[in-house]
Amino acid sequence: MSITADVIEKDKQFSVPVAGRPDFVLERGEGVTVYDTDGKAYTDWVAGIAVNSLGYGDRELMDVIARQMSTGLVHVSGLYHTRALTDLAELLCANSFADKVYFCNSGAEANEGALKFARKLAYVNGRKNKMNVVSFSKAFHGRTLGALSVTPTEKYQAPFKPMVPGALVGEFDDIESAKALIDQDTAAVIVEPIQGEGGINLASAEFLRALRQLCDEQDAVLIFDEIQCGLGRTGDLWAHTCSGVTPDIMTLAKPLAGGLPIGAILVTDEVAGAMQPGDHGSTFSGGAVVMRAGEMVVKRVLSPGFLEHVRETGEYLLERLAEINSPHITDVRGRGLMAAIELSIPPGDIVAQGYEHGLLLVNSGPDAIRFIPPLIVEKRHVDELIEKLTLILEGIDVEG
Ligand SMILES: Cc1ncc(COP(=O)(O)O)c(C=O)c1O
Repeated sequence: MSITADVIEKDKQFSVPVAGRPDFVLERGEGVTVYDTDGKAYTDWVAGIAVNSLGYGDRELMDVIARQMSTGLVHVSGLYHTRALTDLAELLCANSFADKVYFCNSGAEANEGALKFARKLAYVNGRKNKMNVVSFSKAFHGRTLGALSVTPTEKYQAPFKPMVPGALVGEFDDIESAKALIDQDTAAVIVEPIQGEGGINLASAEFLRALRQLCDEQDAVLIFDEIQCGLGRTGDLWAHTCSGVTPDIMTLAKPLAGGLPIGAILVTDEVAGAMQPGDHGSTFSGGAVVMRAGEMVVKRVLSPGFLEHVRETGEYLLERLAEINSPHITDVRGRGLMAAIELSIPPGDIVAQGYEHGLLLVNSGPDAIRFIPPLIVEKRHVDELIEKLTLILEGIDVEG
């Protein structure tokens, strides 16, 4: 049996079947390309779901990780100080609205913590009924029970009900809908400035401004989930900055530690002030290797020319996607290197054909394909993508 067949067989036998994986086995990566066990190359437009923003095999990242490993301090738990943790916390605060940071291990965990922080603030202010959380249609905030409760997709929630009480759902980017839900019982409003899993939907600056105002009027905490859209993906460091609106909490995860598991909850002093020792925690919070990787990634994203490259390549990607002349494409949208084509046919067919053409693609919601590549992707990769996508879509035209 070939290595490929053996791995696929064992995966069927030993892995809980929550992911439908294609029939190849990835073995190594370099730049924006990954290779399977048969040596086939795939240009990666997924980046481990918006994680590998420096691509594969970044020398500096590998060196930083190796250096911290070699000190022997991989993990000490949150019980003790390390310089690695405070260095990353300071860097994130210096480059955002935030005064303080709490580190965790994933996006869902960051949102879970953010919801707890918001409820704790209401609690210390003596507002025990102030426990509602408003989220929006097509949002994705994670799959743990609290985060799932504010991820209003029936398919994700149905088998696991009841959800955490107090979750209310408004229409994304609809100010009137938000107004109808945000009141004195609202502890928090959580929103992605650009929705990632729900179809690459951009919140307007007016919508984010209205949320800020409603939260201020009702003493509610405004949470921006920048787990997918943050840290350079849009060509700005943070996706919300261009709206001029500042949240009370921002959650980060995916790209922050270059592929190592991390989450971060960035907060104002007011929010942090509600938290006491023992209120929240996690064994793996702030591990030194992960923190050093995070510091290196943030510094790279802030280095001269990096964000300009994202903006320029992102604009080129959107332009070239818009040039594809196919009756199956019903919309092209996005910002920076976070783009999507909406389709009148199931995206799964295109994703499957992408594999044959040496492309890793991923859907976003039921009717879009999104492009969330390593941020080091170049215009020549965009050209390759457009050429192959055009071929794939033309093939579907013929088959009709
Ligand atoms: C916006 C957003 N929030 C939260 C999450 C959950 O992150 P994780 O999968 O690391 O738990 C995701 C994951 O796709 C996401 O895109």
